[in-house]
Amino acid sequence: MNTTLLPPEMIAKIDQLCRLGPVIPVLTINRLEDAIPIAEALVAGGLPVLEVTLRTPHALKAIEAITRAVPEAHVGAGTVINPADFKRAVDSGSSFIVSPGITPELLDYGIISDIPYLPGIQTVSEMMEGIQRGYRRFKFFPAEIAGGTAALNAFSGPFGDIRFCPTGGIRAHTAKEYLALANVMCVGGTWLTPADIVNKQDWQAITQLAKQTVNSAK
Ligand code: 3PG
Repeated sequence: MNTTLLPPEMIAKIDQLCRLGPVIPVLTINRLEDAIPIAEALVAGGLPVLEVTLRTPHALKAIEAITRAVPEAHVGAGTVINPADFKRAVDSGSSFIVSPGITPELLDYGIISDIPYLPGIQTVSEMMEGIQRGYRRFKFFPAEIAGGTAALNAFSGPFGDIRFCPTGGIRAHTAKEYLALANVMCVGGTWLTPADIVNKQDWQAITQLAKQTVNSAK
């Protein structure tokens, strides 16, 4: 068994990120040209921490472009499912990494990484795999169908020092219920960039959505 543990400063780095943006827009970039204006619109609306999912061929270029052109943004890579993706995302300038689930290889890679890694869990046993390797912060995915706020409340008994970023099925009107929980440090989701608005390239509408979210999350 590998006994190397996650350096504790990585936990502090995740906490810092979440304090900057208690709501993290989860972005899927279908047109590379949209990447910078979407990031600018979200930053202008008060949401500087952005997760670009590796779900389209543009994702890594989008991360590079945002990192270069929008210095106020903290852009990370999501949907990272193996160490090769992790490395590519780091090489593209990502400032953090998120995975939807865990594998032993990803947990190992996160431990030697220079940037913070938020592994995804859905069950107590998966969480325990991470805890055993020193992880204390997790994405909880897919939050709504995995039990939502009730599951997170239940986790807080046996795992009082663990904090979560739930994503999956969270919307503007439910974000606040999650953020009210003591073990939720931030939430993520795609509701800030609806496909119809992105297709129309209505960046002001994205800024408005971000502002509404920031206000309702208070
Ligand atoms: C994720 O990767 O976190 C999810 O795709 C976000 O889920 P949502 O589309 O329900 O917000």
